[in-house]
Amino acid sequence: MARIPQKFIDDLLDRVDIVEVVDRRVKLKKTGKNFSACCPFHEEKTPSFSVNPGKQFYYCFGCGAGGNALGFLMDYERLEFPEAVASLAQTVGLEVPREETGSGQSAPQDSNRPILEQLEQATRFYEHSLRSHPEAKRAVSYLKARGLSGEIAKTFRLGFAPPGWDNLLQTAGQDAQQVARLSDGGMLVTNDRGRTYDRFRDRIMFPILDARGRVIAFGGRVLGDDKPKYLNSPETPVFQKSRELYGLFQARKSERSLTRIVVVEGYMDVIALAQYGIGYAVATLGTATSEAHMERLFRHVPEVVFCFDGDEAGRKAAFRALESTLPVMQDGRQARFLFLPEGEDPDTVVRARGADHLEHLFGTATPLENFLFDWVAQDLDTTTLDGRARFSKQAAPFVHRLPESVFKVLMYQALADRTGIDIDSLKRLQSPPTEARGGDGAVPQYATGPDVDDYAAAAAEPPATDLPPHDSPDGPDGVGSDGSLTPTSSSATQRLLGLLALNPQLANSLDITLLPPPDRRDRALLTEVVESIKAQPDISTASLLGYWHGTAEGQLLNDLAGREPIEDPAELLELGSALLLQLSREGPLSALRREAALLKAKPYEALDDEEKQTLKRLTKEIRSLSGRD
Ligand code: UTP
Ligand code: MN
Repeated sequence: MARIPQKFIDDLLDRVDIVEVVDRRVKLKKTGKNFSACCPFHEEKTPSFSVNPGKQFYYCFGCGAGGNALGFLMDYERLEFPEAVASLAQTVGLEVPREETGSGQSAPQDSNRPILEQLEQATRFYEHSLRSHPEAKRAVSYLKARGLSGEIAKTFRLGFAPPGWDNLLQTAGQDAQQVARLSDGGMLVTNDRGRTYDRFRDRIMFPILDARGRVIAFGGRVLGDDKPKYLNSPETPVFQKSRELYGLFQARKSERSLTRIVVVEGYMDVIALAQYGIGYAVATLGTATSEAHMERLFRHVPEVVFCFDGDEAGRKAAFRALESTLPVMQDGRQARFLFLPEGEDPDTVVRARGADHLEHLFGTATPLENFLFDWVAQDLDTTTLDGRARFSKQAAPFVHRLPESVFKVLMYQALADRTGIDIDSLKRLQSPPTEARGGDGAVPQYATGPDVDDYAAAAAEPPATDLPPHDSPDGPDGVGSDGSLTPTSSSATQRLLGLLALNPQLANSLDITLLPPPDRRDRALLTEVVESIKAQPDISTASLLGYWHGTAEGQLLNDLAGREPIEDPAELLELGSALLLQLSREGPLSALRREAALLKAKPYEALDDEEKQTLKRLTKEIRSLSGRD
């Protein structure tokens, strides 16, 4: 993809005023130096949403939403990054330049445009054929027989690829360039003998649209029972199967405000639901649901309902979807799983029982937590101690993959309730369940995997934090044991991150050689932040925050910047230097502490003389390094 040059984005952020951008959409009130409003990203009665005009960023103390003007547009208007840039650029009369990235699988945007135009022409050709080709009657009666109205066919731009080898090819005539574009767009096939012909013949055509409504690929269905039932465009420079969702563009267009999206399996399911007034269904394109899909969906709605076949294959697909969902389950997001009776799909159910019935099923579908626990519990006898131990051993790693959130805490709680094992022990059962990933996702091989002894061993390990908190200037609290991030006021790393996010130029006056090693996610971020500032010494808070928008790092940075009270330059420098000094001592300190803790774990009498000497020396060094002589 063509990249928008960073320089342009920084210029853009310099030119727009976030107060104006936000105020046009959410009325702001001046409160001191900042502006505030009730947060548009969560329900609230008293305003905790604040916009900082000086630093050009916003932050919500209630839900943690935050970012620069671009981030606000993306989240508020549900735009993808390039769309938000384009929209913002338009308001200040700038043209978005593109730079070629060279590497990457997809060709630059500019060379994609002709392909997209060609695909648009193909779509029109198919639409036209559905209306007026002599053979189209069969297609029209097929669609009618499946209950689709002309209007819904128009909404989804359904078409007809007439029978014959080269109907589409002929629309390009002798124009070699057009033929090449059709080929690049995946519309043609060339056989061994070098003969080129239409990929889609005698099929109902379903155009696949991207987020901006441009046709990027097609699915084509046979009219009868021939095989293959559906033929899809191959991957092309404009079409990556694993990222796209059929129907998302229409869903965003048809529903004024989306609160829920249903993920179904087929093109026809999406269309049939829309025909029955359920305009918020999307389908993956014959691929498993990916994390990229989920990130995208949750950017638009707080609730995703997966709708699968009740058979074995459907349950496995559901479990894979669950695995892609876990890492993005931030607070406020919900995922549910609906299993339809075998042999049914949303299309058949909505026809037989109506939209209300189906929507009721969506609303009462199994929440992610129950599906996860039930899935793990199958094949286990959880009435026995051994069964419960296995159950916790297998379930904990999944819970562990959740981002740090209240939801995660509740999940551990639920697991503790189910097994009678305390939460701290559960948290230590966190080896990633690699056996359950990939493959066919079947549980049995996994259930017979790690045995109960591992659990006992894990439970017997000393707690990770056995040192008094004041001993640890940069407590590990801010980083979950999976490396996930939560803001912690007592962490020196995070306090420094907050100062730097809000006052990037501070980095230019600090002794950067004192930075701690990037051995933890928040410290890695600290290093990256400092490096970004070094690379661009006059960078603004808004630009800096923009680099990490939409990531856990970005959320942490926003959060820390939003909470940082200090602005006085002298005070800033003093605190910044002190924090850095504290951190520079932390590296050697933590190594010493670990060594000492190992020795302290044995009864003192059991130590030999050399060990006793070592312990004494370590204790002394720790005292002096932590400044408590
Ligand atoms: P289904 O076989 O469930 O089809 O495949 P469907 O959507 O219910 O279709 P109808 O109702 O018979 O018309 C679900 C999805 O799997 C992909 C398509 O994306 C389809 O919508 N698929 C299926 C293919 O890509 N190729 C096939 O041959 C079959
Ligand atoms: Mn079907």
